[in-house]
Amino acid sequence: MRKPLIAGNWKMHKTMSEAEELVKELKDRLAGIEDVEIAVCPTSVNLLPVYNIIADSNIKLGAQNMHWEESGAYTGEISGPMLKEIGATYVIIGHSERREYFQESDEDVNRKAKAAFKYGLRPIICVGETLEEREAGKTMEKVKGQIKAALAGLSKEQIAETVIAYEPIWAIGTGRTATAEDANEVIKAIRELVREDFADAADQIRIQYGGSVKASNIEELMAQPEIDGALVGGASLDVDSFVQIVEGAR
Ligand code: PGA
Repeated sequence: MRKPLIAGNWKMHKTMSEAEELVKELKDRLAGIEDVEIAVCPTSVNLLPVYNIIADSNIKLGAQNMHWEESGAYTGEISGPMLKEIGATYVIIGHSERREYFQESDEDVNRKAKAAFKYGLRPIICVGETLEEREAGKTMEKVKGQIKAALAGLSKEQIAETVIAYEPIWAIGTGRTATAEDANEVIKAIRELVREDFADAADQIRIQYGGSVKASNIEELMAQPEIDGALVGGASLDVDSFVQIVEGAR
């Protein structure tokens, strides 16, 4: 049985005091929930202040990005050991915004996924198609290329600990959500792709949906058999809406 993961991707939102205020309320309101795993992913300068509040709670910490090297002359970058030491459990890798605005390639995503495991972090690897690709019937072609490249060289044990977020790019921040059935179908196909290379670990890997997830659509998404939670952007910035999303995933 896969435990759903609801992760809030705060992107480049919230100053330190705002982040602290949000997470303090989340900690109180989400206390005691164990049937859904919960994570928040603040911007890098807010990782430690947020961790200091949630360290003894049921909320886990995730970063939004990492470099694959352990250390070195990479101005502006953050390494796995740095994230691990300040309490991160998860790291989002290959978000479509990183791929689009910062030219991250499938090879970079693969290097980062391997580095995440090397330094004791669990990757949340994002994949998804553009609107043009979907309309041209190329959704699975795109996603297959991303999945095969991202997971290359990982072990079955690592796959079992990996999270994939299927996020159709046209649904991110647009208010437009994939139908629950469409999301389920793509996620099912992703699981079969994973099975080709990693056998039974495909039954353990968690595959989330992301893209305009909100309190009003979480329940129908979670009612689908293949959807193991959500990566939530905009709706994770508000206490009430994030709490309702976690509740809706139970
Ligand atoms: P959204 O973002 O929920 O605001 O659409 C999701 C994401 O980018 O992970």
